Amino acid sequence: MGLDVEPADESDMDRLIEIQFSAFEGDPYHEALYPGDHFSPALRRSARVRYIQEWREDVSVRWMKCTDRQTGTICGFAKWNLYETDRPEEEWKKRPLVDWCSGRNAEVAENFLYANAAMREKTWGGRPYSLLNILCVHRDFQRRGAGTLLVQWGLVHSERVGLPAYLEASPAGFPLYLKLGFHQIDVCVIKAGDWDGDFDRHLIAMLKNPHDASSPAVK
Ligand SMILES: CC(C)(COP(=O)(O)OP(=O)(O)OC[C@H]1O[C@@H](n2cnc3c(N)ncnc32)[C@H](O)[C@@H]1OP(=O)(O)O)[C@@H](O)C(=O)NCCC(=O)NCCS
Repeated sequence: MGLDVEPADESDMDRLIEIQFSAFEGDPYHEALYPGDHFSPALRRSARVRYIQEWREDVSVRWMKCTDRQTGTICGFAKWNLYETDRPEEEWKKRPLVDWCSGRNAEVAENFLYANAAMREKTWGGRPYSLLNILCVHRDFQRRGAGTLLVQWGLVHSERVGLPAYLEASPAGFPLYLKLGFHQIDVCVIKAGDWDGDFDRHLIAMLKNPHDASSPAVK
């Protein structure tokens, strides 16, 4: 299957959200972040509004899509933030707004998002880096190389402009990132009590510096 990676545009957003909900189906992190019926138009609409608003306002955001060359179907996407220059404190300390749920659900969603944000603040402050913020491949298209291509797009760009690449890995993504040359630098722990889960959730903070070697598999 020939795959291409190119910038997405706003008209792709419904498909990107569909991919996100497919890729993360059953993932406790995603369930806690987006509580309720994942097929509810209202929930998807609120994700759409939030993503598009951020896209328009934040010049660092790059939504990249991976498309099956033969059918034109979008199989996966990555959201990268390329922070190429120093940023003021009010920008890197800004916390995401949770407005798609309320009450305890909103607290849980905030506990997740703020744990990631705190890890980024601690690691980077306002210094330049590139962040792989979201990576998802639709279930029907996984294990065909789309995830690799979407990460490699950001790594090539980061290398070119001399930025370290950073992410917090889910268990599903961790082996892929290791293969692509990232290494673990920290762990972000979300305590069971913070998300009413049965276990502490661990997200692995990972880094790849511009001149770190890639694995032979991606050369
Ligand atoms: C993690 C994720 C993005 C990986 O996407 P993917 O498109 O399946 O990734 P790739 O196909 O590039 O690589 C995955 C595996 O498929 C293998 N693969 C790649 N191309 C292949 C092909 N043509 N045929 C068979 N296997 C292939 C890779 O070698 C890799 O093998 P490994 O798991 O044994 O290391 C995807 O599983 C996903 O969306 N998961 C849920 C969301 C998530 O957790 N995202 C990460 C958040 S940090």
